[in-house]
Order: sequence, then structure tokens, then C-alpha cells
Amino acid sequence: MSEIIRFNSVTKKFGKVVAVNSVDLSIKSGEIHSVIGENGAGKTTLMHLLYGMYKPDSGKIFVRAKEVNFSSPKDAIKDEIGMVHQNFMLIDDFTVYENVVLGAEPHHFISFDREKAKRTVAKLAKEYKMEIDVNEIVGSLSVGLQQKVEILKLLYRNASILIFDEPTAVLTPQESETLFNTLRKFKAFGKTVIFISHKLKEVKEISDRVSVMRNGKLLDTFKNENLSEIDLAKMIAGREIQNPAAVSSKKGETILKINDLTIIGDKGIPAVKGLSLDVSRGEIVGIAGVVGNGQSELEEALVGMRKIANGKIEFKGVDIGKMSVRKRREFGIGYIPEDRIRTGLAPIASVLENVIMGHQNEREFSARLDFMKRKRARYFANQLVNEYRIVCKSVDEQVGTLSGGNMQKVVIAREFAHDVDLLIVSQPTRGVDVGGIEFIHKKILDMKKSGKAVLLISSDLDEILLLSDRIVVMYEGQIVHSTSTKDADLQKIGLAMLGMRS
Ligand SMILES: Nc1ncnc2c1ncn2[C@@H]1O[C@H](COP(=O)(O)OP(=O)(O)O)[C@@H](O)[C@H]1O
Ligand SMILES: [Mg+2]
Repeated sequence: MSEIIRFNSVTKKFGKVVAVNSVDLSIKSGEIHSVIGENGAGKTTLMHLLYGMYKPDSGKIFVRAKEVNFSSPKDAIKDEIGMVHQNFMLIDDFTVYENVVLGAEPHHFISFDREKAKRTVAKLAKEYKMEIDVNEIVGSLSVGLQQKVEILKLLYRNASILIFDEPTAVLTPQESETLFNTLRKFKAFGKTVIFISHKLKEVKEISDRVSVMRNGKLLDTFKNENLSEIDLAKMIAGREIQNPAAVSSKKGETILKINDLTIIGDKGIPAVKGLSLDVSRGEIVGIAGVVGNGQSELEEALVGMRKIANGKIEFKGVDIGKMSVRKRREFGIGYIPEDRIRTGLAPIASVLENVIMGHQNEREFSARLDFMKRKRARYFANQLVNEYRIVCKSVDEQVGTLSGGNMQKVVIAREFAHDVDLLIVSQPTRGVDVGGIEFIHKKILDMKKSGKAVLLISSDLDEILLLSDRIVVMYEGQIVHSTSTKDADLQKIGLAMLGMRS
């Protein structure tokens, strides 16, 4: 195989951050080449350099042995390079074929030749075995299908080098498998695929070669067959990573009983419909599902941020349906929201104030914060800062001035540190790097070990499988599948996530 792309000591800085640091990388024509690394390792930036979205500060990029100096993605596309981004760039009100040809429409004399557009797009989809109706409105499609539209856009523009940035983050297992078949098809047709991911299993499954990035540097490139998942994990993090050992603990009394719960969503229609679920002490119940199937409304109702329309929520034997958010906290419900920064923090308050927030009435810190108690609160805040490696000047710094990752840590630290009986955790590791994920997972398992109940809501199925004792799948506001993790069938879970019965 010949070389199709070469990066020669390419560097790109954003202010003081060296996002891509003197990277040398060679991609061969016709291979599937994965680039793997923690959040913030520089993968996306490296690809944006190739795609003409940024120019390198120094170094050279060669495509087909010719040095390139792209000013915009338009130039990259001319060189047959295409990229599917983490966030799709589609127009919801347009059909599939309209989105695909947008900006490069076929014409008949001076008018848009719709029939030709439809035919061309349908033919492309067929050639690559992508099942999709070109006349559908994009806004009504599943995420997996929208991704196909993005891919068709590239194929329509003749891309022969295809870059995928974390394409499976939003997909169900079946959709990922379909995507992989498409990637294999590209390879069979001689196209080159660059696949960015931080999921080791996938990288092992799909790649010919794998390059590992850490802190902006490209460490090395390996043949896939010479690597194990463990090797990869070690290289990505720069140290040994431990999968949390399955922690067995004794399941205790049922502590949360949700009965026939209906919740009206923002659009005025039911987001949760007659849902019933129990959670016991010493167990982790995982709620799997594609985002937007009622999970957020459910968690908001549980913590008291959203009214319930019907049904009952019982916690420690008490009907808490009408209790305030604050009362519920005091009664033992901890909450790590998905949008931790918006929902979980008071940005103008200090780190110290934020970590004791919601717990000021506890004996340990209260009594109008007399001197000793203030001292204790400060000591407590400093301990959390150390344990969670929160980067701040001091515990008196305003939370709103910390970086996003550190703001997240403040909420996570606070919720794990306080004594709760039930912890509701939503997407705990979204936007967190591999080392951080390991830490948070261990904390969640510790909660269970110490006899707390945990309700884990995550769209990352691997995370659900790794931590939960029981798994339920939500689809359109209902639980459509329920299983113990030890008997879990991935196929069934994936189908349930898409609302299909197996
Ligand atoms: N547009 C930008 N402005 C400032 N900093 C950025 C920008 N894009 C990326 N970075 C920083 O560059 C580093 C690498 O980021 P990125 O390439 O997105 O990593 P990855 O895709 O591996 O998660 C990170 O520290 C990130 O915060
Ligand atoms: Mg990225």
C-alpha cells in the first residue's frame, strides 16, 4: 500500500495550549487507520488540520505526495477529503436527498434537477448498501440515519479519504455495527478511512493500524493485530488502567419505589408514561436508552425539579411527590445531573460554598457557620480539591472562573462526599477523560458497596453494562426491556433502544 497522507512535525497551538505537538503520521491508501486517545489528546484538532479548518503553526501536510496548504474545507474536498463531524451539520426541514446535494445541486438548464438528485443519491446509497429513504425529512430520522446522510454528502462529493470523528458515540450497538459494515465497504472500494475513537473494543474490531495520541503528541502507530485492548488502554492513559472489578454486595431493602409515573414534558405531551421501577440498597440500576426518551424528565421528577402528572414516588417509605428539591436532598437523595455546570452549580459562589451547598443545614457545618464550623467546612473543601484534583487557586475562588472540566468535578465531588441513601447519576462520564472515568466508576461502585442505592442514567451502553446490576431500557417514556446484567443480551438491548421488539 502506498502512502496517501503524511503529517511532518505538525504543530497547532491555541493560546498556550499545544493541541497538536510536532506530530508525524503516515496514512496508507486503502487502510482503516484509527486515531485513539483521551479527551483533549488532540485528535479532533489533528483532523481539522487535515480538513482545512485550521492551518498548522508549523510543519507540513502532504496528500498524495504533494504538499497542501488548505485555506478551508472546500480545498480539502477538492482533494477528495471528507469529514463526518461529532455534531452533524444537517438541515432538519430538508429531505435526505436535498441535504446530500446542498451546495452542489445538479441542474437542468438553470433549474434544480430534483429527479436527477434523487436518482443519484439513491444510487449511491445502494452502491454502499446504506438503507435509507432519500425522500424522508431529515429531522424525523434517527441519529444513525442522519449519520448516513452525512456520509452520503461526502460520497456525493467524491471523497476517497473519509474522516470519522467519534462516529459511534451517539449510536446503538446495531447502528455501530451497520456503520462498521459501511466502513468495510469503503475499504473494499479502495477508499481510505480515518477513524477517531476512544472506545478500545471498536478500534480493535475495525482498524488495520492504530495511532495513539496523548497530550497533543502522537506516541506511535501499531498494526492492530499486534495490540491488545489492555496495551491500548495503558498507552492512552500513560499508566495502568483498572477495570472496576465486579463488586458484589448484598442487595438490601427497596428504597425507591416508582409507581405508574407519568410526567409531562416541555412540549406539553407525556415524556414519561406510566413508568414503574424499584431500586434497592446495595444495587445499581442502569437506565439505558437513546437520549430524549424521557430519561431527563424522569430524573428531574425524582429530584423535585419537575412536577408529576400522575403516579407515585416513594422514598424510604414516604411519598415524596410534593417535597421540595431541598427537602429531598436533606432526606437523602443525591444528584449528579448531566448538565452539571448549569444545574449543579452557583457560578458566582466560591468552590467552598459550592461543595457545602445543599448541606448547610447539616450539623457538621451549620449554626450560622461559627468559627470552628467554618474551619471544618474549609478543611472539607480542601480535602475534596485534593482528592478530585480540582484545579483552582484556592477554595475561595469563584466556581464560574474554573475550566469546564473542573466545574464538573466540583459537583461530582460534592455529591459523592455527602451522606446520601440514593444517588441519581446522569451521564457521569460524559466529557470526562479516561483517568477521570476510572475514578468516577470506582466511586459509583463504592457507593453501592457501602449499601447505597444508585440509579445510573447513561446513553453509553458500555458504562451501563460495566456498572449496573440490573438494566432497564427506556423508549418513548416507557421501560421496554428489563434484565439482570448477568443475563443481558446486547442484541435485545440494542433493539429495545430503537423501540423494536426482538
Ligand atoms: N478552538 C479551540 N480553542 C482553544 N482550545 C482548543 C480548541 N480546540 C481544541 N482546543 C484544545 O486543544 C486540546 C486538544 O483538543 P481536541 O483536539 O478537541 O482533543 P480530542 O479530540 O482528542 O478530544 C484540548 O486541550 C482543547 O481544549
Ligand atoms: Mg475530539
